[in-house]
Amino acid sequence: MSTVDGKVQHHFHLDASRFDAIYDDRKGPVARFIDNVWRGVVRKRLQLTVEKLEPLTGRTVLDVGCGSGRFCFAYAQQGAAHVLGVDFAEAMIDLAKRYATELQVENVCEFRAGRFPEAVPDGPFDASTAMGFFDYIEDPAAIVRAMREKTRHTMLMSFPKAYEWRVPIRRARFLMAGCPLFLYTRKRVVSILKDAGVDRYDWIDLGRDYFIVAHLEG
Ligand SMILES: C[S@@+](CC[C@H](N)C(=O)[O-])C[C@H]1O[C@@H](n2cnc3c(N)ncnc32)[C@H](O)[C@@H]1O
Repeated sequence: MSTVDGKVQHHFHLDASRFDAIYDDRKGPVARFIDNVWRGVVRKRLQLTVEKLEPLTGRTVLDVGCGSGRFCFAYAQQGAAHVLGVDFAEAMIDLAKRYATELQVENVCEFRAGRFPEAVPDGPFDASTAMGFFDYIEDPAAIVRAMREKTRHTMLMSFPKAYEWRVPIRRARFLMAGCPLFLYTRKRVVSILKDAGVDRYDWIDLGRDYFIVAHLEG
């Protein structure tokens, strides 16, 4: 594992519960306001991803960098037949497995602790998603290529913008936390997709992130 991956894995292993709390509404108005301004994009991504994958009934989905599994549960609740979530932060996978049992979706959602792509020799899947993931990836074209090889129809990915008003504070936060952070210009995302052989896609501006819907079939 590279130094970058080691730092990212360590960060999210320790930060799992705090990150997952973004999805939890049981907090005071001030904390909710701060979450909305700083990380509202995290929840927006979830809503849009499910919308773009519909209909999910009977589909198989791979979620790369699944974190605590929130996207996977939504796919299962929309009728997916099988969802594989992979993440190299053990504490994220522990949370995901616990929630899957609580939500009674453990027969649909499988969670695997490991690094993508090595931890996923199986596939292809009907769709794959990687949300809030490329922020931590040193060689994004290699990962997009690996996702493409494992996907039949649709790939959804988010890329955080390099120029956006929240960037200076976000950079400072990650620097202090000792976690690498990678940000993207529009030109760079276009070039990554081209390098990875992805040439049909829709582009959605989500404020803090670019949101890509790639169409692979036909
Ligand atoms: C910010 S979290 C996003 C989690 C989830 N997608 C969400 O939006 O709720 C990014 C996750 O990617 C994982 N990750 C980063 N690089 C990875 C890799 N190469 N293989 C597996 N997991 C990785 C991290 O451990 C972290 O949990």
